[in-house]
Amino acid sequence: MYTGKLMKKLLFQFDTDTHPSVFDTVVGYDGGADHVIGHGGLMPENVTALVEGAIFTRAPKDKKNTAIFVGGSDMLAGQKLFAAVQSCFFPGFQVSVMLDSNGSNTTAAAAVAKLASSGVLAGKKAVVLAGTGPVGQRAAAMLAQEGAIVSLTARKMERAVAACNNMKLRFGVDITPIEAFDNEARAKTIENAAIVLATGAAGVELLSTDQWQDNSTLEMIADANATPPLGIGGTDMMDKGTLRHGKIIWGAIGFGSLKLALHRACIAQLFEDNKQVLDAENIFALAKKMAYRLSEIKFPKSLKNSQKS
Ligand SMILES: NC(=O)c1ccc[n+]([C@@H]2O[C@H](COP(=O)([O-])OP(=O)(O)OC[C@H]3O[C@@H](n4cnc5c(N)ncnc54)[C@H](OP(=O)(O)O)[C@@H]3O)[C@@H](O)[C@H]2O)c1
Repeated sequence: MYTGKLMKKLLFQFDTDTHPSVFDTVVGYDGGADHVIGHGGLMPENVTALVEGAIFTRAPKDKKNTAIFVGGSDMLAGQKLFAAVQSCFFPGFQVSVMLDSNGSNTTAAAAVAKLASSGVLAGKKAVVLAGTGPVGQRAAAMLAQEGAIVSLTARKMERAVAACNNMKLRFGVDITPIEAFDNEARAKTIENAAIVLATGAAGVELLSTDQWQDNSTLEMIADANATPPLGIGGTDMMDKGTLRHGKIIWGAIGFGSLKLALHRACIAQLFEDNKQVLDAENIFALAKKMAYRLSEIKFPKSLKNSQKS
């Protein structure tokens, strides 16, 4: 008879893309799952039976060993699937669930938490370049929730507007959409900005060095793109709060160690009980705690003080 001692931690990876993300599978194991079972092409219309399989199979005390991770490259589709999964739960029958479409929560939270650990965000003008992807949308919302005055660029205005509307609907934040087709147009959007967060597709340069290095209002830059060419020319993906031209730079791998630690910590948290619902708010809160704990850099007092003004 089963004694409970061998209860395996099962992570069901529900992806809105055809092929479940390999990255998310690996982190699922590294976060403590014994098995990660991927399902692709999921949407609200075809997820019910899978969720029922997860919530009905184990005794109440053992349900904490089953969890669901929602991922994929489409933020809106991920949000809808995440809601659909939870709509199948009812008292006594639920398992922990996390949303992180393309790192929308963990990558965005890590980047914004590192920026927050390096200076003041509230009241500062922040521009999220190429912010229409999952990472950019959520990062823009997190910056806005920290009190920054946020704009988000896309190559086409309608995509920028759609992303801002999505974040307004989900978080109630106001983000200004801007159309910026090329590097020159994007350089214009960062005039008078204090913070730039680049969240463009892998291997796409969004600004060249000369387009930001002499910007006198710019205090901090973070770039999520770790695939050369980087999103921000003249930076290094390993930058960990590195000072370049008087600006604090966070490269993709520089804040990526926090992203990975955070992602793994969230997976581990899913198995603590069967009622965890991990989304932007609690993932960002955890990121901020971890960013200060793991802080790799010590800023000179003078620099920190100057940023508080
Ligand atoms: N550092 C980490 O730990 C980590 C973790 C996960 C992901 N990432 C990286 O984070 C970045 C953002 O991820 P994501 O999934 O949100 O990105 P994404 O959806 O692949 O792309 C974001 C946006 O980039 C824009 N874009 C695409 N091609 C472009 C081009 N040729 N020129 C200008 N803009 C272009 C698109 O915006 P429009 O079409 O609307 O203009 C797109 O919506 C990626 O570079 C990804 O590799 C980093």
